[in-house]
Amino acid sequence: MNLSKEIADIEVIKRVGACADKLGLEAYVVGGFVRDLLLKRPSKDIDFVCVGSGIALAKKVADSFDHHVPLSVFKNFGTAMIKLEDWELEFVGARKESYRQDSRKPIVEDGTLKEDQERRDFTINALAISINQATFGELVDPFDGVRDLKRKIIKTPLDPDTTFSDDPLRMMRAVRFATQLKFDIEPDTFDGLLRNASRLEIISGERIVDELNKIILSDTPSYGFKLLFVSKLLHQFFPEMVDLQGVDSVGDKSHKDNFYHTLQVLDNICEFTDDLWLRWAAIMHDIAKPVTKRFNKKAGWTFHGHEDKGARMTPKIFRKLKLPMDERMKYVQKLVRLHLRPIALVNDKVTDSAVRRLVYEAGDDVEDLMNLCRADVTSKNPNRVKRFLANFDKVEQKIQEVEEKDQVRNFQPPVSGEEIMKIFGLPPSKTVGEIKEEIKEAILEGQIENNKEQAIQLMFKLAEAKGISKKEN
Ligand code: CTP
Repeated sequence: MNLSKEIADIEVIKRVGACADKLGLEAYVVGGFVRDLLLKRPSKDIDFVCVGSGIALAKKVADSFDHHVPLSVFKNFGTAMIKLEDWELEFVGARKESYRQDSRKPIVEDGTLKEDQERRDFTINALAISINQATFGELVDPFDGVRDLKRKIIKTPLDPDTTFSDDPLRMMRAVRFATQLKFDIEPDTFDGLLRNASRLEIISGERIVDELNKIILSDTPSYGFKLLFVSKLLHQFFPEMVDLQGVDSVGDKSHKDNFYHTLQVLDNICEFTDDLWLRWAAIMHDIAKPVTKRFNKKAGWTFHGHEDKGARMTPKIFRKLKLPMDERMKYVQKLVRLHLRPIALVNDKVTDSAVRRLVYEAGDDVEDLMNLCRADVTSKNPNRVKRFLANFDKVEQKIQEVEEKDQVRNFQPPVSGEEIMKIFGLPPSKTVGEIKEEIKEAILEGQIENNKEQAIQLMFKLAEAKGISKKEN
């Protein structure tokens, strides 16, 4: 196959080819760029491999411009990088050993192009296009990567045990590419995942979660999670999610499989949002169901308190998975804690005070919470679904009404602690906090409106009841 037409317009590739010719080096575009070119997914990262020194080639390319181009050289790794406009160009010499992103080992052994290709992760990532003038555009595809692109198959070029033990992260990459590209994993490669899953333990959490997040950000993350589950990779780093799987029955009473339910909620939320953290909230919303599960004859299966327990589990899981421990974790935790509240609202009567409390607690994330709740409706009974969604409409309308009236979304106390202290000549104390809290409660309960005048009035009443009088000036 010749791809000269496909790359003819990419000036930078021609320039690198010309520099390689001047140095008398064979040079190729390789890896993800070639895969994405054939899949018609435009990419701005190009990996060049040459038979010889990648650093020398990069230097030649940088020098070929009459203006300065930033060049970074990583001598120990035998690689170099050039950033040019929006292109990111990586240069490496063909090598015999595997491509490990975190490898701290210096490159020792130079290799041929074929040796370089066979130490790559998948056949579809081992394609190379020659860029020397004489052979410009010729595809070098020793492992039938093009065939696998057409068949939509993820397959290792060598025995999967060899490819995966070179870098066990590639097992996560197999699932990630399958999910992003909507490909299957070839059966022998899949068996390799099963055999080698436990070797993931030598991989850093950061690298694992990086791949996991790419799976979560794909169009249909449930597919990736199912692959992670059946290959037993998920068991290595996220056992709490594995525990969601399974159905228990007592007599004729069973509960739903919470793993598959969670995956459906996750796919549902993907229709609303590309936000990674809202997607994480969907993954975590029922995480505490296994540990809160109880059975009694009257109620059947219950998961009382799973929302609070789930919120408490969130920081622990985030820490273990090397996810950020900042406001993003707090956001997920908040949505997990509140995810039943809109449903509870619907079941009871939608009172103003309950809605006000929800808005107060959810703050600016109240819309995300409502979207999570809608995604959580996975019943197969269309009438039930319709009823739930209509009720959520009602809650949303009420949220708007209450918000227009009382503005409790980003609640600021209408009377501050300092004001209370000043008016009554009080030192910082429990009493000041109590008065503030009772004013807030009265607002949320709808006993007074959220404005200064009514808050001050109530403040005097509360102080009087506590035997506190105004400070005389
Ligand atoms: N590679 C590999 N093993 C790894 C990582 C990378 O063999 N663990 C090789 C593959 O040939 C891959 C290339 O290095 O195509 C570049 O890696 P990377 O930039 O991580 O991936 P891409 O394939 O470019 O895909 P994406 O940009 O979507 O991550």
